[in-house]
Amino acid sequence: MYCTKKISDSLYWIGANDRRLAMFEGVYSVPAGVSYNSYILKDEKIAVFDTVDKAVSRVFFENLTHELDGKTPDYLVVHHMEPDHSATMSEFVLRYPEAKIVCNSKILAMIKQFFDFDIDSRAVIVNEGDTLTLGEHKLTFVNAPMVHWPEVMMSYEEKEGILFSADAFGHFGALNGAIFADEVDFDGDYMNEARRYYTNIVGKYGAQVMAVLKKAATLDIKLICPLHGFVWRKNLKSFIDKYALWGSYTPEKKGVMIAYASIYGNTENAAEILSSTLRDRGIETVMFDVSVTPASEIVSACFKYSHLVFASPTYNAGIFVSMENLLHDVAAHAIKNRTVAFIQNGSWAPASGKLMREIMEKVPGVKIIGDIPYVKSSLKADSYNSLMALADTITADFISEEKRETKELDKSVMHKLTYGLFALFTNDGKKDNACIINTVSQVTDEPMQISVYINKLNYSCDTIMESGKFNVCILDESAPFALYKRFGFASGRDTDKLDGFKATSTSENGLKYLIDGSCAYISGKVVKTVDCGTHMAFFAEVTETKTLGGKTPVTYAYYFENIKPKPEIPTLLAEERVEEKAPSTEEKRGEATASVSVAEAKAEKKIIAWACKICGYVYEGETLPDDFVCPWCKHPASDFEPIYG
Ligand code: FEO
Repeated sequence: MYCTKKISDSLYWIGANDRRLAMFEGVYSVPAGVSYNSYILKDEKIAVFDTVDKAVSRVFFENLTHELDGKTPDYLVVHHMEPDHSATMSEFVLRYPEAKIVCNSKILAMIKQFFDFDIDSRAVIVNEGDTLTLGEHKLTFVNAPMVHWPEVMMSYEEKEGILFSADAFGHFGALNGAIFADEVDFDGDYMNEARRYYTNIVGKYGAQVMAVLKKAATLDIKLICPLHGFVWRKNLKSFIDKYALWGSYTPEKKGVMIAYASIYGNTENAAEILSSTLRDRGIETVMFDVSVTPASEIVSACFKYSHLVFASPTYNAGIFVSMENLLHDVAAHAIKNRTVAFIQNGSWAPASGKLMREIMEKVPGVKIIGDIPYVKSSLKADSYNSLMALADTITADFISEEKRETKELDKSVMHKLTYGLFALFTNDGKKDNACIINTVSQVTDEPMQISVYINKLNYSCDTIMESGKFNVCILDESAPFALYKRFGFASGRDTDKLDGFKATSTSENGLKYLIDGSCAYISGKVVKTVDCGTHMAFFAEVTETKTLGGKTPVTYAYYFENIKPKPEIPTLLAEERVEEKAPSTEEKRGEATASVSVAEAKAEKKIIAWACKICGYVYEGETLPDDFVCPWCKHPASDFEPIYG
């Protein structure tokens, strides 16, 4: 039975998952399976994009047959000839002999290498920039050599902004019922497998990946459809940014990856002590036993962390076999911009340290630091001291790098954070936007991090998810109500809130900040997001701070007491009006009568509407739904008060 997924009105996923495969490409374990993606685009002409691995051909053809609904495909677009995407091409040709095969000349040559069917009569050869019109949809072809093989191409569909990205932007792991990355906790559940996939499959070809990213930057991409893993329709930039880090060999984390081989636990002991010492100094570490952890996971960690330590016993006058394999694997991936150190063990003729060093020092862009501690059988006082000397060297390298990287931040800005109100500036790629928020906190001091919490309904939440950066302006007591109204009572989705607003300047991250009504601003670069239900929590590294004047930051209480106009609701509850007025002697005397009047007033009047106490939005109706959220300021039903008529 077919199992397809709708991506848009015209585009459907017709791929399949394989959870029985033990080793992808015979090398990489895939405990969570893998998906082979194929797509069908239905317009005046029908195009199928790639096929699947032979292991899942039955499911693929069931899916394809269902989506064709009795029709015949006009084109099979082939982006990549690796058999996990092309193995079923010969059966496709048998089933649909009239379909044209769209490919470049390198793909054509590989089709002839893999298959015997007549390709020349049905091939449509395309070059970089060529187009193919399917009706309303038009494909433009983009060569992507070495991402992951030399023949690879991608195609871009203009009408819907679809990038068919071949192996790029894929990941290990079956789809498990979802099709879009935003349907799952991608960062939590899939990012490690996306990194392991990227680094091991195309990690060696960073320059080629960066070249394709440069081409992609000129396209208005709304959907990424890779050959493995989820389709991306939201937060594309966050994943593209990861590729930019991986492709440029930029460490994602400042930290030390320690990989060790250990026969009787003594080399492991030295690695543990080094890791523990560095942790005590606040340096993040991660450890792997190379005899247990698959090399692909360690290669992935090498791409993630800035510093790498390899510890190995001497074995057959060489490096321990699993460590030697790992080092050749890491070196083959041409990793760059990493700082590397070693620990060796040897009971009589130590050799592993020198040999490990010889492998890694040949890798361009690798910096080797420290003398190699020599553990003679097991750690003793002298080798412990040399291990501590290595810990000192690594620590010093961390500190000097941090000094180079960390700009002096004005930490006093953090003292201005109150339970107050803040203007949060973002940019959606086309225009600047701002909203008002009330929760900004300092999280850590070194590195300096803050958190902000934003209602998911706010447009700013979407733009931060996309851009990964924001400016928080700490509002001061001089900020007029008009400023709160401008930024807080409309949505940036349909309003240009900064239209005609001049009181801003631009910070180093390219975003706006207020120059009036704000006593300081903080620039944040998002490092982590946490889904909190109605709100998204953004944890951000502080990249810039600036004090703008000596005014007092506004508190929430000050705003309500002194800035926000009292609601002008003429028919407010009679009881409140009676309470506000100081009672005269006569009134005091007639207290009992007055009480009766209030009760009568309440009894006579009925609720005709509800007013938001925060922004003044009026909801017309007798009953306010419990789950109502103010469309202006996003406050809940509990912040509404009744209006009596
Ligand atoms: Fe998924 Fe390079 O094939």
